[in-house]
Amino acid sequence: MSQNIVELSNITKKWGIFTALENISLDVKKGEILTLLGPSGCGKSTLMRIAAGFELPSRGHVRINGTDMTAVPPEKRPVNMVFQRYALFPHLDVFDNVAFGLRLKGLPKAQINDDVNAMLKLVQLEDYSSRWIGEISGGQAQRVALARALVNKPSVLLLDEPLAALDLKIRHLMLDELKRIHTETGTTFIYVTHDQDEAMILSDRVVLMNKGTIEQIGTPDEMYGSPKTLFCAKFFGETNLLDGKVRNASASGALVDVPVGSAQVGKAGLLDGSSVHLSIRPEAINIASANGAGDRANEVKGQVEDVTFIGSRVVYKVRHQAGTLLKCQEPRSASGIRFGVGSDVSLTWDPQSVVVLAS
Ligand SMILES: Nc1ncnc2c1ncn2[C@@H]1O[C@H](COP(=O)(O)OP(=O)(O)OP(=O)(O)O)[C@@H](O)[C@H]1O
Ligand SMILES: [Mg+2]
Repeated sequence: MSQNIVELSNITKKWGIFTALENISLDVKKGEILTLLGPSGCGKSTLMRIAAGFELPSRGHVRINGTDMTAVPPEKRPVNMVFQRYALFPHLDVFDNVAFGLRLKGLPKAQINDDVNAMLKLVQLEDYSSRWIGEISGGQAQRVALARALVNKPSVLLLDEPLAALDLKIRHLMLDELKRIHTETGTTFIYVTHDQDEAMILSDRVVLMNKGTIEQIGTPDEMYGSPKTLFCAKFFGETNLLDGKVRNASASGALVDVPVGSAQVGKAGLLDGSSVHLSIRPEAINIASANGAGDRANEVKGQVEDVTFIGSRVVYKVRHQAGTLLKCQEPRSASGIRFGVGSDVSLTWDPQSVVVLAS
């Protein structure tokens, strides 16, 4: 059997002259958590609805477990979807919400009881089975929605921004829960979010979407450390972006003139005179007291303009005399914050940590 549990090939979706998805091809591996990430309106929900069978693609095919299911209705697919608004039945209690699908299938009462109780245990709601939906919290409603989808033992669980309605703290708790449930059930998850932190915490692989196309696919580490486009570098984590022009290109790298001086980069194959963007992550920049005159390559002198203390990290915003603002970050040292506002500092970085992006 194929290792890919879902195969989307050349999916295009148009409404009139508007193209919501443009020739998307994507394989989902059995057992992974794959996240669709991207800004509002980029087509994440549309792609999920096509995978689930709530929407037909204008072109392309959906295969699940090796079978073409492009035109198969949702209830005949081995997938279940958890919607952002949960869509629970308010006139039923927690138990009956979870049992609903099993009763439709006409399963014997004893088996329904066993399956529902096992699911309520899995989502840690075994003491809430007779509560009405109006009597539970948002986080608990989310768990009921999960239990209701998982009780059908789908091969694939589709989760469309399932935590969007929850506050940050509960969201992080639920992410841990989702990971545990994923491990315990072995179900393949396709997860939609527009929150890059959520995507990083949860995913085996991330699909970054932009305007109906796939921008980049990779592990969270690859997306963060090796973005291939400006869009990906900006969307995934914080970074310093510098516009530059290449000079002295060689087989081992190049020098790039940027507004704050010049920067050595390790990337080969660049063309002299070409325009590029450099992305340097705040944690790749070292900060030290300024000493000595003049700017050297890979060094920026400036003045600390702002210091933010975020738990275990300290973030400095440093203004170069030409106006550019650079952000650098270091772990909070035992002696606390090392540089105050107004300090003259020198910023340096390892050329290998600079990502060169086409302009
Ligand atoms: N039934 C429809 N008819 C016409 N256009 C639609 C329809 N459904 C969605 N769209 C459009 O398709 C685009 C993609 O919508 P989609 O809901 O997939 O975005 P999304 O990435 O899920 O966004 P969000 O993060 O806001 O949920 C949007 O521009 C949306 O307005
Ligand atoms: Mg959506």
